Amino acid sequence: MCPLCTFGPVYFTTLITTGRVILRQWKDGDLAPFAAMNADAAVREFFPGLLTKDESDASARGAQSKIVQRGFGLFAAELRDTGEFIGFIGLDRMDFVIPGVPQPAVEIGWRLARAHWGKGLATEGARAVVQFGFGTLHLEEIVAITVPANIRSRRVMEKIGMMHVPELDFDHPRIPAGHPLRRHVLYVLKNPVRCA
Ligand SMILES: CC(C)(COP(=O)(O)OP(=O)(O)OC[C@H]1O[C@@H](n2cnc3c(N)ncnc32)[C@H](O)[C@@H]1OP(=O)(O)O)[C@@H](O)C(=O)NCCC(=O)NCCS
Repeated sequence: MCPLCTFGPVYFTTLITTGRVILRQWKDGDLAPFAAMNADAAVREFFPGLLTKDESDASARGAQSKIVQRGFGLFAAELRDTGEFIGFIGLDRMDFVIPGVPQPAVEIGWRLARAHWGKGLATEGARAVVQFGFGTLHLEEIVAITVPANIRSRRVMEKIGMMHVPELDFDHPRIPAGHPLRRHVLYVLKNPVRCA
């Protein structure tokens, strides 16, 4: 059976390790806790809706196959101490164009289960992902997007050194006109080595 269609083989067991977090390829056991997160209205506050189990599984499989194909993606995150799956932190190629943003754009993103918020875990993982993106992938820049009201996510962007570029704020093409979550802010972080 095609390995990309299953959660059997795990191609990269550990990609990035921080003091408290391991960022790695997705595995079978992540699906149930990931679906629980995606069914939590607090976690999905700034997204258009909750995800069903099938939608959540498809999104995990999509992330898994991108990691296989590209060597990077939205990595599953687990606690080093306990091995507990807590969500994802990673990089993704943007699959739509934002006017004014150089292509192909690579986005940093994060989503954690509510029980793990407010402990600095997203920031810790994101810092390591930035190092990986610049040091290993040699990206020129990393962008991040969210809705203006998502202060928690914006704080993570700011704490890892990203700059809000208001002139690049945009209406998300996948969200219908008039929807309250359509407007997005855009943050950028440039690779200091590539830009020197
Ligand atoms: C965004 C998210 C990943 C942050 O994870 P986290 O591990 O709690 O983040 P951190 O602890 O590293 O940092 C959160 C920051 O937001 C701040 N914060 C939290 N709630 C806040 C609030 N209501 N108002 C202002 N700041 C707030 C925290 O104080 C912290 O900043 P500080 O260190 O300067 O005090 C998490 O909240 C989440 O998964 N949210 C749902 C999914 C989501 O929105 N993903 C992002 C989509 S763009």
